[in-house]
Amino acid sequence: MAPTSSLLIRRARILLPNGEFLVGDVQICDGKIVNVAAKIVESGDREIDAIGLTLLPGVIDPQVHFREPGLEHKEDLFTASCACAKGGVTSFLEMPNTRPLTTTQAALDDKLRRAAEKCLVNYGFFIGATAEILPDLLNANPVSGIKIFMGSMHGDLLMDDAANLEAVFAKGDRLIAVHAEDQVRINQRRQEFAGVTDIAVHSKIQDNQAALLATQLAVKLSKKYQRRLHILHLSTGEEAEFLRQEKPSWVTAEVTPQHLLLNTSAYETIGSFAQMNPPLRSARDNEILWQALLDGVIDFIATDHAPHTLAEKAQTYPNTPSGMPGVETSLPLMLTQAVAGKCTVAQVANWMSTAVAKAYKIPNKGKIAPGFDADLVLVDLEKYRPVVGAEMASKCGWSSFEGWNLTGWPVVTIVGGKVVFENGKLDTNVRGEALTFDAD
Ligand code: DOR
Repeated sequence: MAPTSSLLIRRARILLPNGEFLVGDVQICDGKIVNVAAKIVESGDREIDAIGLTLLPGVIDPQVHFREPGLEHKEDLFTASCACAKGGVTSFLEMPNTRPLTTTQAALDDKLRRAAEKCLVNYGFFIGATAEILPDLLNANPVSGIKIFMGSMHGDLLMDDAANLEAVFAKGDRLIAVHAEDQVRINQRRQEFAGVTDIAVHSKIQDNQAALLATQLAVKLSKKYQRRLHILHLSTGEEAEFLRQEKPSWVTAEVTPQHLLLNTSAYETIGSFAQMNPPLRSARDNEILWQALLDGVIDFIATDHAPHTLAEKAQTYPNTPSGMPGVETSLPLMLTQAVAGKCTVAQVANWMSTAVAKAYKIPNKGKIAPGFDADLVLVDLEKYRPVVGAEMASKCGWSSFEGWNLTGWPVVTIVGGKVVFENGKLDTNVRGEALTFDAD
């Protein structure tokens, strides 16, 4: 038998599963939490004095684009997982728009192999739907679900044909996650605005109506086939109000920090760093999305981490690619909101960990309780520090939140009981594990 290893976190302000805090100790043995108490008398092989720090379940980011294989000039699984560890993200679910596309078991196995070799945090992958329903779409394992790009994405992953889309909903029962934008409307509007190079036109071309139409269609199909549906990165007030009325119990939705905190005014200040899909909307959309999140209409938070190089972002619209990095800043962004009184710290931990584990049926994650995996983050809710894009571990080296003064930065990140990030330093020898997903 392998020797046991134990870690004790002492005097932390621990977030308990009931949303209350306990100042006390957490004992970890062989990667699992074994005890949470005001005072634990045993000692550990290693002890961390966490006085003044808050202990939260590690973030599970359920939508990221980490670019490997095929687009490693933007990011790779090593650099992305370093960024995760620095940001308190202990698990991620990654999207299939890599090269080759993740549409087969072989492509999935290749990603799993690469991740086992390089990832400092835990990893899971989506499989992508194509017009032709490949057998692996329904059978490949382990996958967090089927990803459908209803719009805004080219290549074989684009599912803009209603009959093809319906065929995916009709077959099998695994979770379907949709990027909901109506490609027909986007194509029409692209023609209307052809030749415009002002980047602000991006939010006009891929407008609120394009997002609403696709979300409505996805919900309609989900109802027709009683199919488990997740709506990725909800971006508009219209979609939130529609879901408030029409969301069945088997449908979930997420929002990104950028759709809560940035809006179209950002094009003037940060230019193409504000360009993503679905696009940023108005300040009024920010407000409605916040309310929907607070009310439980939106279930959780994802970053849609989608880095591009500075050179790619320096081109002129529409040649600038859509997407922004997120895993390194999402937790402090949201905790800063909590400290400012917009929500509670417990809500942030629920939206960024507990609710994600529940929705994707990831066993033993998302709570600080005996029996749960020791994926944890210690944050400092007292100190403030600005975002500096050039210091990011992400290969892209920039952030859309440059200069934002944030609190709640991770001080220590723990993956499977191993300290992967501590006081500004990564332990690049730590490796995460493949996530598993319980059956329905
Ligand atoms: O802005 C985006 N960029 N949205 C997506 O959904 C895809 C992503 C990418 O992969 O670049």
